[in-house]
Amino acid sequence: MSKKPEHTETVSVIGEGATLGVIGAGVMGQTLLRGLLSGKLVAHDRVWAGDKNPATCDAASEALGIAVESDYQARVSGADLILLCVKPNDAPVVLATLRNAGLRRETLLISIMAGVGTDRLESLLGTENPVVRAMPNTPAVVGEGMTVICRGRYASKTDLQRAQAIFEAVGRCIPVDEVHFNAVTALSGSGPGYQFLIMEALADAGVRVGLPRQLALTLVAQTALGSARMVLSTGRHPAALRDDVTTPAGCTIGGLLMLEDGRIRSVLARAVEEATKISAHLGMGPNKISESGGGQRSGD
Ligand SMILES: NC(=O)c1ccc[n+]([C@@H]2O[C@H](COP(=O)([O-])OP(=O)(O)OC[C@H]3O[C@@H](n4cnc5c(N)ncnc54)[C@H](OP(=O)(O)O)[C@@H]3O)[C@@H](O)[C@H]2O)c1
Repeated sequence: MSKKPEHTETVSVIGEGATLGVIGAGVMGQTLLRGLLSGKLVAHDRVWAGDKNPATCDAASEALGIAVESDYQARVSGADLILLCVKPNDAPVVLATLRNAGLRRETLLISIMAGVGTDRLESLLGTENPVVRAMPNTPAVVGEGMTVICRGRYASKTDLQRAQAIFEAVGRCIPVDEVHFNAVTALSGSGPGYQFLIMEALADAGVRVGLPRQLALTLVAQTALGSARMVLSTGRHPAALRDDVTTPAGCTIGGLLMLEDGRIRSVLARAVEEATKISAHLGMGPNKISESGGGQRSGD
């Protein structure tokens, strides 16, 4: 697990006597809770979660050792930070529930809902609460997440730093301008999906040339991990690193030319372009989505 904080200032995630709530104790909600608790950013008795599914509440409570309830409304007024980890289509219901449950004006709301902009969050909420929007990804499960964050019109620099501290508990976190969020959703939010497909295909290729599947998969995954670390730790351009391993008349140049023949660059660019377009429609609600011909799109 590598932790590489992008900033050095230490900020308290919640104030003295206050609590932190997480609405939606699914995959991402539980992942963030685990990071917060194991990173000791908050004590167990200061954290609670709410989920509409009683079975999810029981399982999450058991796994994390915190209160997870369907009737969480009474806890809302005591929270000074609430993480919104439900699907984009559930945003209107959850924000109305929070508002009607006595949400304090100064409570920071951090949303990870794909496609739901800060202006939409603020207008659904109808209050002047500070709002931070985040786009994490699933490698957060193993502490190697990539999250970007931006702040809404009522959020301060300190609010952004509080959010950054939370996401750095599960990987890296970088503040970016909200205008880039659809592209980020397509590149790093959906990115693990592309990487898994590429790794699966390379492992199949290893099997094709005679390797046992498990060995092929280990070789591929460790090679991806090591190559990523080289890009991040050396700061060198990937093309320069690639040149270093491309011996004249060797195997690598042969393989690379086959990838170029298959138009790997334009295929990847088109994939990200398509995902960016889809991201722009997330959070608009089911009617708008089907009007735009996008089908069922409720996640990232
Ligand atoms: N997974 C990713 O890779 C990823 C990456 C970046 C961002 N995100 C964003 O993260 C959010 C959560 O994704 P996820 O994969 O964690 O989804 P998930 O596993 O389905 O978790 C969402 C949870 O919220 C619950 N819920 C639904 N409506 C609720 C309500 N009104 N009150 C309280 N709880 C409610 C759901 O219960 P039911 O199952 O009963 O509906 C479910 O347990 C999404 O907005 C997604 O866009 C996900």
